Amino acid sequence: MSEEHQDAVPEVDASDAAADAVAVTDDPTKAFSFSPEREKKYEEIVRRYPTRLSAIMPMLWLCQDEWGWLKPGVPEWVAARLEVPISRVYEIISFYTMYYTENPGTYNLQVCRNISCHMAGSGKITKHLCKKLGVGLNETDSEGRFRVEEVECLGACGMGPMMQVGKDFYEHLTEEKVDELIEQWRRDG
Ligand code: FES
Repeated sequence: MSEEHQDAVPEVDASDAAADAVAVTDDPTKAFSFSPEREKKYEEIVRRYPTRLSAIMPMLWLCQDEWGWLKPGVPEWVAARLEVPISRVYEIISFYTMYYTENPGTYNLQVCRNISCHMAGSGKITKHLCKKLGVGLNETDSEGRFRVEEVECLGACGMGPMMQVGKDFYEHLTEEKVDELIEQWRRDG
């Protein structure tokens, strides 16, 4: 996520924030809680950005790090904690594809489909993954473990075909290599 995108979130009047904030509990700021380590990161984020609006994107990332996705109620909690309008949180979630409002499973296999990876055979890898796991694109398997997704360039264009799973990159993929990875993840649980 680039600084440019973060900076692109425009300012709003603080009074709008209070008016638009939507509560999901009596006190929405208490609906969820971060682990102590992430709570510390949250405080750093709030200090780092000049406005609370600029902190929405990193705060949403932090939520995904904590729970794996933006489960129901989390967007409202983010809005309440940052004291920003819920509409600003939802407009970011709906614009950027990397925020998940449905559980993407334990292993979300994000295969790059851009030109370099495409030329190196990413389409074949995606089809193989879907067939092996018995899922369609953007579908999670019945055990909630694996999901296959095509994404735009991940910045490893010379290493294609490649995919990202969590924060790890897997490069120069072949059908044999992804089979081994899946077996390993199945063993890991
Ligand atoms: S084209 Fe696949 S990482 Fe850039």
